[in-house]
Amino acid sequence: MTEHSTERGDILGRTEIETLVGAFYTAVRKDTALGPVFDQVAKVDWREHLPKICDFWETVLFRTGGYRGSPLAVHLKLALETRMDRPMFDRWLELFKAAADRLFAGPNTEHIKAVAVDMAHVIHSRLREASMFRPPAFPL
Ligand code: HEM
Repeated sequence: MTEHSTERGDILGRTEIETLVGAFYTAVRKDTALGPVFDQVAKVDWREHLPKICDFWETVLFRTGGYRGSPLAVHLKLALETRMDRPMFDRWLELFKAAADRLFAGPNTEHIKAVAVDMAHVIHSRLREASMFRPPAFPL
């Protein structure tokens, strides 16, 4: 045992991504603002959703994972049905960063959080742009 043995390790591959994604979505489902978007609006099939999200992050971090999809299209559709405003994205980020920092530390952990921040900004600003042509259900 060294004095460093209790330090958190970094995200090194699929196993750590699965741990992070599992912890994050457990927190999301308990959240009073975000949980209903997944379980009541989108009625997400979690057995399908969790591996897809792991593919997404594995593709982002390691260029493996083979994610093929369009997060933008998915969130544009959601904005037509439910609230997807800036405070919702801020809450999403708060839970994501908290899960990452509780479990891991290191360059890949910093990178995944930075990508999440960028993606949240990009998705939200695209939703706002789209709302000029197709008004969403709630103000963005
Ligand atoms: C307000 C914040 C957010 C909410 C409420 C939200 C909600 C959702 C929901 C409900 C789905 C599943 C849709 C379906 O299967 O019908 C989904 C898919 C997804 N989300 Fe989000 N999301 C948010 C932010 C983000 C952010 C910031 C990212 C990226 C860092 C992200 C990445 C994804 C990805 C990759 C998918 C899978 C898309 C696909 O089917 O290919 N989400 N999101």
